[in-house]
Amino acid sequence: MEKVVPFVPIILLGLLLHIFLRRRNKRDPHKRPELPPGSMGWPYIGETLQLYSQDPNVFFATKQRRYGEIFKTHILGCPCVMLASPEAARFVLVTRAHLFKPTYPKSKETLIGPSALFFHQGDYHVRLRKLVRGSLSPESIRNLVTDIEALAISALDSWAGSQVTNTFQEMKKLSFEVGILAIFGRLEASYREELKKNYTIVERGYNSLPTKLPGTPYKKALQARKRLNEILSDIIRERKEKKSTEKDLLGCFLNSKDDKGEIITEDQIADNLIGVLFAAQDTTASVMTWILKYLREYPKLLEAVKAEQKAIYLSNEEGNLPLTWAQTRQMPITYRVVLESLRMASIISFTFREAVDDVEYKGYLIPKGWKVMPLFRNIHHNTEFFSDPQKFDPSRFETALKPYTFMPFGSGVHTCPGNDLAKLEMLIMTHHLVTKFRWEVVGSQSGIQYSPFPVPLHGLPARFWRESTD
Ligand code: HEM
Repeated sequence: MEKVVPFVPIILLGLLLHIFLRRRNKRDPHKRPELPPGSMGWPYIGETLQLYSQDPNVFFATKQRRYGEIFKTHILGCPCVMLASPEAARFVLVTRAHLFKPTYPKSKETLIGPSALFFHQGDYHVRLRKLVRGSLSPESIRNLVTDIEALAISALDSWAGSQVTNTFQEMKKLSFEVGILAIFGRLEASYREELKKNYTIVERGYNSLPTKLPGTPYKKALQARKRLNEILSDIIRERKEKKSTEKDLLGCFLNSKDDKGEIITEDQIADNLIGVLFAAQDTTASVMTWILKYLREYPKLLEAVKAEQKAIYLSNEEGNLPLTWAQTRQMPITYRVVLESLRMASIISFTFREAVDDVEYKGYLIPKGWKVMPLFRNIHHNTEFFSDPQKFDPSRFETALKPYTFMPFGSGVHTCPGNDLAKLEMLIMTHHLVTKFRWEVVGSQSGIQYSPFPVPLHGLPARFWRESTD
């Protein structure tokens, strides 16, 4: 006890000095900005274990409660600043986007293809992005409605029966086919099969340890990625021989010449086609899986969606006429279900950038080379912007939202160019699902798995029946 007493005044003095200096610093306009609050965890491993030993959303939410909208941490060997407010997301992704470059692990970049647009900033990115956006714009994809419809019908028909279907895995097959359609138009079945076979191996390697030892999933993925280039090369050669003038994404790439007459090389085309497939498949599939889950959990909402879609179905002579683009624009209830599913599931919980210079934000320093992560999920689940955020309530989209509070497709220079296609696919799938089928979830109805996007546990095993055969 005697030993502790002399320290008390010293500690008090220290505290007072600290408060005084902080106040003085606040008043000093020349003060060097400080790092944001937060903990960097253990040397090297930082807080990686804390992040991966629990639901990552709990990790981020706990940090936000403790430190506020901006905080630092250290994960996967990198110092990071996490940002959980609409203003901060706008700062990083839109107004100061030039100060934050996209950043991915080298091993993943190699697998997708280093020329894929999402790894780039500047002129090359702008050029590629214009082409991708053009071929995935509403004006272009309106011509795909009938083909997407055929794919959705064929998928749903194949699930009907007594067998248990892994909804997510089946949705992946559908979104892969839609991706292929947007890229190549109506591609020969043998090419589609070859692409699918090798792409699946690449995908498996993408989420595995990046070691090049023979027989490892990563090594197999690198070999499959090489084969994908050969297949793409064959498709391109055939197109050139036929002198075809298709307007799909491949056609746009092949016909592109910049101001100086420069074409896009075959390697650049291959990397971007694989990149688009990669960006399109699991994302859309996981949101479609969530839509099925939410509709099942909210029977009144399912009834409302059914009524909306049945009216369209009847006006199309009970499905004998194809859906039209105009009809897909007139599905307000279903559309709000899609938006609310995107918000609730927030399958892209955050994105990564890297500061290319020291950047100051609201008096805090974001040092050059640090990773910066706008946390979309935290914003989508913040009670300040979405009341009762854990409740599935599509009516919240009946009124306008505050800017930058809803970013399921990101924002700014890298915002998702496939968002209209993804939404169209979801609307068409939902139309056929609710007008002709009934489904029931098998086993546990709760739980999430990360693969790596959040998906209902075990991919939402379900049984599907055709309504008419009841
Ligand atoms: C529900 C489905 C989808 C979601 C939630 C989604 C979400 C996103 C997000 C958040 C980004 C921005 C990432 C960042 O800023 O770091 C992005 C970028 C991208 N998405 Fe999507 N996406 C979806 C479907 C699609 C589809 C169907 C395609 C193509 C057919 C696509 C192609 C792309 C591409 C190429 C980029 C990179 C854009 C760039 O860097 O300029 N996405 N997506």
